[in-house]
Amino acid sequence: MTRETIFPHRHLLGIQGLAPTEISALLDLSDDYVDKNRSADRKMTTLRGKTVINLFFENSTRTRTSFELAGKRLGADVINMQVSASSVAKGETLIDTAMTLNAMHVDVLVVRHPDSGAVKLLSDKVNCAVINGGDGSHEHPTQALLDALTIRRRKGHLDGLTVAICGDVLHSRVARSNIHLLNTMGAQVRVVAPRTLLPSQAERLGVEVFHDMRRGLADVDIVMMLRVQHERMLGSFIPSIREYFHFFGLDYEKLAAAKPDALIMHPGPMNRGVEIDSDLADDVERSVIREQVEMGVAVRMACLEVLTANLQKDFR
Ligand code: CP
Repeated sequence: MTRETIFPHRHLLGIQGLAPTEISALLDLSDDYVDKNRSADRKMTTLRGKTVINLFFENSTRTRTSFELAGKRLGADVINMQVSASSVAKGETLIDTAMTLNAMHVDVLVVRHPDSGAVKLLSDKVNCAVINGGDGSHEHPTQALLDALTIRRRKGHLDGLTVAICGDVLHSRVARSNIHLLNTMGAQVRVVAPRTLLPSQAERLGVEVFHDMRRGLADVDIVMMLRVQHERMLGSFIPSIREYFHFFGLDYEKLAAAKPDALIMHPGPMNRGVEIDSDLADDVERSVIREQVEMGVAVRMACLEVLTANLQKDFR
């Protein structure tokens, strides 16, 4: 199968709507890049002559850096736009900014924006490929793909696993993308959170809902913790950090409810002592948080490769 046919889309805006075969194909290609990245010979020419621009309207360490590394390893020219030093600071709109970059014959725009739907809006106005680096509380597709790759490499499969996604589900684009991906790939998904940090009618997302960590974690294969997103909270969603950690922070005692070989994941950045015990986060017997970061580069290389291979195709 050619790179174009494994992922027949112009953009990667979300996981929702992707077919299981498309997700599997992206994970297979990412797997190859994991091996390549671990070798001494990891500089390639696949994207020579292509230009990737990282356009991030929100802070990022992992996503922006790994897209930069991914593009450079594939031989692309990569530009990180400093939004605060750009004409956005003079009032230029998102769409005008995107159209300006598009006029320079850019091949891929990787965009992060605080508003849900903003990346899709932008993708309708440009003819380059657009990758969603996270939009509001909507989707963060490459995070879900790297999480799936981490799980698949450790457990050998995704189908039939039980995954508990715990914490601030309400504000989490990571949770939404993971729920879509895991449901599509045949895993059982639970969400565990206080009522204030769950979207209304969360069951409609195709998950089982729990408000108690020990019940929610009972016999799960994967415990995926979420960051408490203070920056998206207007008003009080949790009584206090201390109380939140007591009831919903992951520690060894609560983890004991999960399977003995359950893996701990966190997309980062972590609030140590808020949603996860610091020692547990660093426990290499249980935590795969560092591995998730490694997988991020491989997944983003795969995404850049398939989308640039599609540039001349018409998928509309
Ligand atoms: N997980 C994640 O998106 O991290 P960054 O905000 O550092 O990119």
